[in-house]
Amino acid sequence: MFLEEIARRRTFGIISHPDAGKTTLTEKLLLFGGAIQEAGAVKSNKIKKGATSDFMEIERQRGISVATSVLAFIYKNKKINILDTPGHKDFAEDTFRTLTAVDSVIVVIDVAKGVEEQTEKLVEVCRMRSIPIIVFINKLDREGKDSFDLLDEIETKLGLRVTPLSHPIGMGYDFKGIYNIWNKNAKLFLEDTKTSKGKTVSFDDLDDPELERLITSNSLETLKEELELVSGVYPPFSQDEYLAGKLQPVFFGSALNNFGVQELLDCFIDIAPPPLEKQAEERVIQPNEDSFSGFVFKIHANMDPNHRDRLAFIKIVSGTFERNTPYLHVRNNKKVKFSSPNAFFAERKEIVDISYPGDIVGLHDTGNFKIGDSLTSGEKIHFKGIPSFSPEHFRYINNADPMKAKQLNKGVDQLMDEGVAQLFTMSMNNRKIIGTVGALQFEVIQYRLEHEYGAICSYENLNVYKACWVEPEDEKNHEFVDFKRVKQKFLATDKQGQLVFLADSSFSLQMTQQKYPSVKFHLTSEF
Ligand code: G4P
Repeated sequence: MFLEEIARRRTFGIISHPDAGKTTLTEKLLLFGGAIQEAGAVKSNKIKKGATSDFMEIERQRGISVATSVLAFIYKNKKINILDTPGHKDFAEDTFRTLTAVDSVIVVIDVAKGVEEQTEKLVEVCRMRSIPIIVFINKLDREGKDSFDLLDEIETKLGLRVTPLSHPIGMGYDFKGIYNIWNKNAKLFLEDTKTSKGKTVSFDDLDDPELERLITSNSLETLKEELELVSGVYPPFSQDEYLAGKLQPVFFGSALNNFGVQELLDCFIDIAPPPLEKQAEERVIQPNEDSFSGFVFKIHANMDPNHRDRLAFIKIVSGTFERNTPYLHVRNNKKVKFSSPNAFFAERKEIVDISYPGDIVGLHDTGNFKIGDSLTSGEKIHFKGIPSFSPEHFRYINNADPMKAKQLNKGVDQLMDEGVAQLFTMSMNNRKIIGTVGALQFEVIQYRLEHEYGAICSYENLNVYKACWVEPEDEKNHEFVDFKRVKQKFLATDKQGQLVFLADSSFSLQMTQQKYPSVKFHLTSEF
């Protein structure tokens, strides 16, 4: 029973550059999975430009993103957990963290725009971790790039090795359907499918005269030639290679028009991995172990300032998580139990008695959890792989109301635990620096400090190019001692107390590296 529950779970994330169609695809997967009845039910959690001031929009978005954090449904007896990732690039770090909790991903690419910047960054993180990837090329109802050119672009820009499992029949105005290479059949639109699951017709035999009648003999010839080219040029699909992150199947379709989505979903549940083992500092944890273990990958603060509780999202790695059972919060070395753990379904959450590996539970927390914390049946396990990346923007944060210093410190601390931004403390004078991925977070922090903690902050600009985590060859080495003395002005510690070099330009970073060859500089906190 326990093993069956593990085997039927598929926990994954959908990633894309904003506007490629992530929200639409998510919604259509829910629609085909029977979890929602009509299109339009899933709210986009992206931050729309212009309509309202940015931070009001963020508050609205925060509200929606609790509801869409995890969208779960059952399809063909598989329990599917879709982990939502923020679309806005300023929140890329949230997405990186969510990727530590997925067992596979689907990457959505816009057929006209091809590989975009955000896709490159996200796929790189997936590649580094060998996460199995399926590519979905979307918006085939529009004129876009030639499918072979696009496959080339995906290989070169994303460094993937692709194998198409479907092929479009026409494109844009002439888009007629999809040939499913996985199941070896052709599916054509018969009418406008935007509003319902639509009427389609399938052909198992490409020589069926009815197929030729529907798409014309020219198109059929082209299709056959292209399919020959696909099988000649691309490696055959191998599930082992896909699971090892060495081969990436590609699907074509139009999420908006419900086309190619069912094919994607049906293949996905066949090939995508059930919950995987996870490397901890101490050892590798297998999902089928009896003892429970899990880790926090996301913390969501309550929107209501009167209730300071937060929801910590835990990915279950092994064993079962049971309600009202004491578990060890490893970092605090304290036993805690939860009377109302939340499980997530499409658009609703409810209290759950038992959850299995692959599942996400939401735990109410009054400020004890931090991103990356582990919770176990008793074993002291520390999960790896939730590194911090160098922020892009840096500012000094000052307290603008001396009466509220305590509130400010508490607020900053909690927001950092939530992963909103990173805090550095200058070694020389203890001044605090906030580092963020996008400029928007400074507004978020200021707004939330004021509304949730009653503290007022101001910022001061600071010229930092990158934060580099410093790894000395030997702490006592005279070169390292010399480095610390000479560069004192540029040194800070992060929240874990790790030493960080705040380089003010790429040139000065290079010069420093040359001058102190035994000191290593890393752009992430885990090395
Ligand atoms: P995102 O979450 O990746 O940011 O993208 P989202 O699904 O919100 O889609 C971005 C836009 O692309 C939306 O249009 C959406 O309707 C459209 N879209 C998604 N899939 C397809 C497709 O297969 N074909 C075509 N032609 N368009 C598609 P919008 O005008 O920005 O938003 P809306 O007003 O339609 O909601």
